Amino acid sequence: MKVTMIGSGYVGLVSGVCFADFGHDVVCVDKDAGKIEALRKGVMPIYEPGLEQLVATNVKAGRLSFSTDVETSVADSDVVFIAVGTPSRRGDGHADLSYVYAAAREIAAHVKGFTLIVTKSTVPVGTGDEVERIIRDTNPEADVAVVSNPEFLREGAAIEDFKRPDRIVIGISDDRAREVMTEVYRPLYLNQAPLLFTERRTSELIKYAANAFLAMKITFINEVADLCEKVGANVQEVSRGIGLDGRIGAKFLHAGPGYGGSCFPKDTLALAKTAQDHDSPLRLIETTISINDNRKRAMGRKVIAAVGGEVRGKKIAVLGLTFKPNTDDMRDSPAISIIRTLQDGGANVVGYDPEGMENATTVIDDIVYAKDAYAAADGADALVIVTEWNQFRALDMARLKKIMANPILVDLRNIYRHDEIVRHGFHYTSIGRPDLAEKT
Ligand code: UDX
Repeated sequence: MKVTMIGSGYVGLVSGVCFADFGHDVVCVDKDAGKIEALRKGVMPIYEPGLEQLVATNVKAGRLSFSTDVETSVADSDVVFIAVGTPSRRGDGHADLSYVYAAAREIAAHVKGFTLIVTKSTVPVGTGDEVERIIRDTNPEADVAVVSNPEFLREGAAIEDFKRPDRIVIGISDDRAREVMTEVYRPLYLNQAPLLFTERRTSELIKYAANAFLAMKITFINEVADLCEKVGANVQEVSRGIGLDGRIGAKFLHAGPGYGGSCFPKDTLALAKTAQDHDSPLRLIETTISINDNRKRAMGRKVIAAVGGEVRGKKIAVLGLTFKPNTDDMRDSPAISIIRTLQDGGANVVGYDPEGMENATTVIDDIVYAKDAYAAADGADALVIVTEWNQFRALDMARLKKIMANPILVDLRNIYRHDEIVRHGFHYTSIGRPDLAEKT
């Protein structure tokens, strides 16, 4: 089938190249001519494992191309996906739908023949109805069906998640859409990925409810971690013990410095606002949001406590700046709050991240960037692991002990165990695991 993907960011580019890899003819469109130019040269606008190779393969096979021209792409397409950004609106936290609506107007002006318009961006309940109205107002002759098809891609694992989804959710209001969408997803459907057809508003809410639930689950284990520190229990063992219950599940039970990223923070806020607007507040999600915001700041205070309560004039090395490993994305990363808290306390911060340092310069001021973990740790009064990149999982403790001014390690991702660190003469602090000698 001929597919246009409007928006070539984290969602649009990954979705577009995966659809091309299924055998569809895909044009990824973006207003940003620089981004399109770079993509045509094989330069990726985002870091996503495997993306560069997959794009090259599909461009070479003639199934994938890049354009700034909505008109031609839309006129030729059977399906047009809207995968533009829906950031939190300044000030009130609602989703900013201006890019979605602008895309709907552009599409409406150029559709030819029966065309599916599919919102893949995360959009509040009822957006599909509004897109339908915009298209009808812009071009009463347009023969379209507006479909909701939210994505559940995790950054750093997006291609894997696209190709092996737990489910594909499709919200339709026109039966003609069912046949076309089944064709679009045929390669996955044949691999038994459940295709869940539902009505459009339900599909839109499924996306928000999924993200909000995952954010709440993480926040739950983060609070349990704080209790563990008080009662002398081990949160990793609690996670394992409850996660073995099939009704709970082991995933998303890793205690840490709080969730970040481009989705959980904005989607929990948008859902809470939608619920408030409809006089049915989601108090669990409202509480999740405030707990998570407070936690990120509390982590900075945890580091200050680990250094003895005073960081003025001290050098603190921070390993990991991105909100999670295997991405370059700094959006709402806990590192931002943690570093700001340390700087407010007068610390001099050195940061290192395998992929995120370029983006970090746009959100973090006055820190020194190091070329690797050991350069960051050189002369440091404390070493803080904020993001669990694999390359931080086997640091040479003897070498760190030699080069650091003070042997203090604060492990906010529980990468290490207490006994294996103290053996090297370090003071070790982690999350939800009291500084007791680890039970074997
Ligand atoms: C999330 C959803 O997982 C995905 O389905 C949706 O499409 C987009 O939002 P993403 O934000 O890319 O994906 O990352 P994810 O792996 O979900 O992690 C989100 C945040 O939660 C990160 O800050 C991560 O560090 C944190 N997290 C995750 C934890 O603190 N503990 C966990 O156990 C899991």
